[in-house]
Amino acid sequence: MAKSKTRCIGLLTSGGDCPGLNAVIRAITKVAIHEYGIKVIGIQDGFRGLVENRTIPLDEAAVSGILTRGGTILGASRDKPHSMPVGDQLLDMTGAAVETYQKNKMDCLVCLGGGGTGKNAFRLNQKGGLNVMTLPKTIDNDVFGTDITFGYDTAVGIATEAIDRLHTTATSHHRMIVCEIMGHRAGWLALQSGLAGGADVVLIPEIPYDLQRIAEYLLERRNHGKRFSIVAVAEGARSVREALEQAEKKAKDKKAKEAIKYGKNAALDDLKTEREAVDAIRADLPLKVRKMHDEIMAYHAVQEPMASRLARQLQELTGVEARVTSLGHVQRGGIPSAFDRALCTLLGAKAADLLAEGTYNVMVAYRNGACVPVPLKDVVGQRKPVPLDHPMIGTARKIDTCFGD
Ligand code: F6P
Repeated sequence: MAKSKTRCIGLLTSGGDCPGLNAVIRAITKVAIHEYGIKVIGIQDGFRGLVENRTIPLDEAAVSGILTRGGTILGASRDKPHSMPVGDQLLDMTGAAVETYQKNKMDCLVCLGGGGTGKNAFRLNQKGGLNVMTLPKTIDNDVFGTDITFGYDTAVGIATEAIDRLHTTATSHHRMIVCEIMGHRAGWLALQSGLAGGADVVLIPEIPYDLQRIAEYLLERRNHGKRFSIVAVAEGARSVREALEQAEKKAKDKKAKEAIKYGKNAALDDLKTEREAVDAIRADLPLKVRKMHDEIMAYHAVQEPMASRLARQLQELTGVEARVTSLGHVQRGGIPSAFDRALCTLLGAKAADLLAEGTYNVMVAYRNGACVPVPLKDVVGQRKPVPLDHPMIGTARKIDTCFGD
C-alpha cells in the first residue's frame, strides 16, 4: 500500500444533485481504501449531515454497484453551515460542523458540489480551520476554473433528446414549441443542447433577447415554408428590458436583487388570481402553520417556468400556435452518460491521489484533458458564464440560429 499523509476523510454531496455523484463517491472510496488505506466516512444530506454528525461508513461494499446509479447514495441538501434553518431560526452552525470533523478525526472534508458548495467549503476552511477539497459538480457547467463539470454531459444528452422528440411532434402539428432548459444563471446547457438538437431559437442569459426580433425571425421561417419552430430557452434567459431592470435594481436594492434572481417577477404578476386563491386558503390555517410555511417559502423559493410567458408572448406576436415543455429535474435524473462516468472516475481517483499527498484546500478541476488541483482561493465566488465569443455561439449564428438579439 502506498504512503498517505491523510488517514481519514469525510465525504459529502451538496447542492442540487446530478448524475455522476455516485460514480465519484465510488472512485474516491475505492482508490482511497485500496491504494492508500484512507478511511472514508460518508456524510448524509450535505452540510446538514455534517452539522448533525450523521455519518455512514463508506467501504467497498457500500460503493459496489453504484457507478451507473443516478442521484447520490449520501443524500444532498442546499444547506449552508453558516446560515442554517434550525427550528424557527437561521443559525451559524460552523462550530457544530467543526465538532463533527474533529470528533470523527477527519483530516480533510471532501465536498462534491457546485459554486455554492465551493464557497461553503472555503468558508469552513477560513472560519473553522478545516482542510477541505471540492470536486466540480453541476448540470449547469458554470463552475469557474474547470473546463467542464460532471453531470453536464448527461444533462446535455437528455435536453438534446427532448429537443429531438419535440421536433417530430412540432412538425406534425405545425407548431412552435418553447422548451425551457435548466442552467441557473448560465446558458451552457440550453446552448449546447440547442445546437445539438438544431433548435431554431436559442435564448440564454448571457444574450438578453428582444421579443420583436424573435417574432420577426419566426414569421420569416413561416414565410419560407417552415411551419414549425423549436425555441430552446434557458431558465435564466431574460429580455433586454428585464436585464436593464435587473441591473438597475441590483445597484439600488440587495433584496430586490434576490426577488428578481430568476427574472421571473413579471411572470408572477400574471398569477394574481391564483395568489388570491392561495391567500384565502392560507387565511384558514393556524398562524403557527402559516409562519412555518412562510419560512419554508423564504428558504426554498418555488420557480415558475419562464417558458409559459414567453410562449404566450410569441404566440400573440406571430399568430403561430405555441406549446410549452419545461424539462425541469428530468435533466438531473437517471444514469450518467459514458463521458460523465469516465470523468467522474478520473476526478475521484485524482482526488484520492491528492489527499494521499496531503494536498488540501483545492478544487480538483478538469483542464485540457487532465485532472489538476486548483487553489480554492483562486476560484470561489467566481462564475463561468458562456463567453460571448464562444465558438458554439458563432457557429450557431452561421447556421441561422436566432439568439433574439
Ligand atoms: O444547479 C442545478 C440546478 O438544477 C439548476 O439548473 C436549477 O436552477 C436548480 O438546480 C434547481 O434547484 P432545485 O433542485 O433546488 O429546485
